[in-house]
Amino acid sequence: MKREQWKSQIGFLMAAVGSAIGLGNIWRFSYMAYSYGGGAFLIPYLTALVTAGIPLLILEFAIGHERIGSAPLAYAKIKKNWEWLGWWAVTFVMFGIVLYYVVIISWCLNYFLLSFNLGWGSDPNAYFYKKFLSLSSSPSKIGEIRTPIFFSLILIWFINWVIVYRGVQKGIELANKIFMPMLFVLTAVLVFWSINLDGASIGIRAYLTPDFSKLSNPKVWIDAYSQIFFTLSLGFGIMIAYASYLPEKSDISKSAILTAFINSGYSLFAGFAVFSVLGFMAKAQSKEISEVVSQSIGLAFVAYPKAVSLMPGGNLFGALFFFCLVVAGISSSVSIIEAFTSAMVDKFALKRRPLVTTICILGFLGSIVFTTEAGLLWLDIVDHFLTNYGLVVVGIAECILAGWLFDIYILKRHINKVSSIRMGRLWVALIRYFVPLMLAIMLAGSLKAEVTKPYGGYPWAAISLIGVNWIILTILAAVVFALRPWKTENLKKVGRGQRHR
Ligand code: PHE
Repeated sequence: MKREQWKSQIGFLMAAVGSAIGLGNIWRFSYMAYSYGGGAFLIPYLTALVTAGIPLLILEFAIGHERIGSAPLAYAKIKKNWEWLGWWAVTFVMFGIVLYYVVIISWCLNYFLLSFNLGWGSDPNAYFYKKFLSLSSSPSKIGEIRTPIFFSLILIWFINWVIVYRGVQKGIELANKIFMPMLFVLTAVLVFWSINLDGASIGIRAYLTPDFSKLSNPKVWIDAYSQIFFTLSLGFGIMIAYASYLPEKSDISKSAILTAFINSGYSLFAGFAVFSVLGFMAKAQSKEISEVVSQSIGLAFVAYPKAVSLMPGGNLFGALFFFCLVVAGISSSVSIIEAFTSAMVDKFALKRRPLVTTICILGFLGSIVFTTEAGLLWLDIVDHFLTNYGLVVVGIAECILAGWLFDIYILKRHINKVSSIRMGRLWVALIRYFVPLMLAIMLAGSLKAEVTKPYGGYPWAAISLIGVNWIILTILAAVVFALRPWKTENLKKVGRGQRHR
């Protein structure tokens, strides 16, 4: 079977950018920037981007392109007994991250509809937690499925299914070629609208005024690195799969650098809309900006609705904002589904259509638990474990695998043969020493925090049953996939960089 391919370089770029720009760019970034020293946060953020994000993105593109395969295949072609690692990456995103990621997109879809008549009423905080989520007091009290979330979940999975079902060119590439420009235009509308609101400058000042004293706190640096890994969708096997669909002649390093800068530029830009609105709200209610900013989820689903209610024409503004979140979210969730699909096709020669249908049905069923009254609690625990451990461990292993257990110069030569921006010894050193070291520091920091006190104050039983087991089960599944015999000849094909040797 011939490997699917992107129709154009720009199509690939849009898809990679689509994966990178997601829910995390809009509020996770904004909140971090605010709490970690405003403008000063850009220093660790950009340092992390240049010293770790871009080198690792180039590595992932190179692995996918040179080895010509999704993560499990590409890793197996690097070292046979490391195939499980690739499976783990694609399994924990497919049967972990995406399951709750689509639920958050479903909330956004609900809020998009609610915007039209400001359906959250006069107390968006009570509305969100009590009425909309009907949040239970502990992860073990599952309660009922929340019907509005459940129904929008069906629609979101359906859209994901349609896109991935149609394949690389007619599905993912086409969708992103429509979604990304649309997202940029709509975001620009939001930014220009919001910076003209009364009080916007208060918010922008809070967003950008540098507080350099924050930079002496190591946590700021660690979180900047983790934000960069998450926002570039690294360590999930996604970028490897996407790059494997590139034609022979493709400028890898340039695409990686463009993807990284468009992604971070978008975050920075969208931050203006987030903070102008908060400034407007602070002014309208004569409060301090610090009183109106709330943490991650609250920022989008509590603070923002509140502001929208105060704004003239707010319903349209709110609808646009939540629509942007839906679009940004879907272009990321399809990339996860594709990473897993591509792995199954590469190894088991399954047909895309029935495969994608099965995966989406299973994914939908797996998502349901996150639509229950304990949904947000489960989501919080699973997210904590998978992003703090899954992503980090895969990242470290990936660097060791490519940098130490494999002749990394094959990848370097390959990049330099096809790309306009050449990689030198510095890149090799970053991959071999610096990136794994940074990731190891992050891992040690998380582990230390983990044992000193249970994450988020949840009972230990819930943490081990939900969080730890999720990790163990996905590793087991990965090992099972890795041990099954290959149904294709893909493993026997040499990499592009080795062909003529
Ligand atoms: N990069 C996406 C964001 O910033 C998140 C994401 C995670 C996307 C995992 C795909 C896979 O929101």
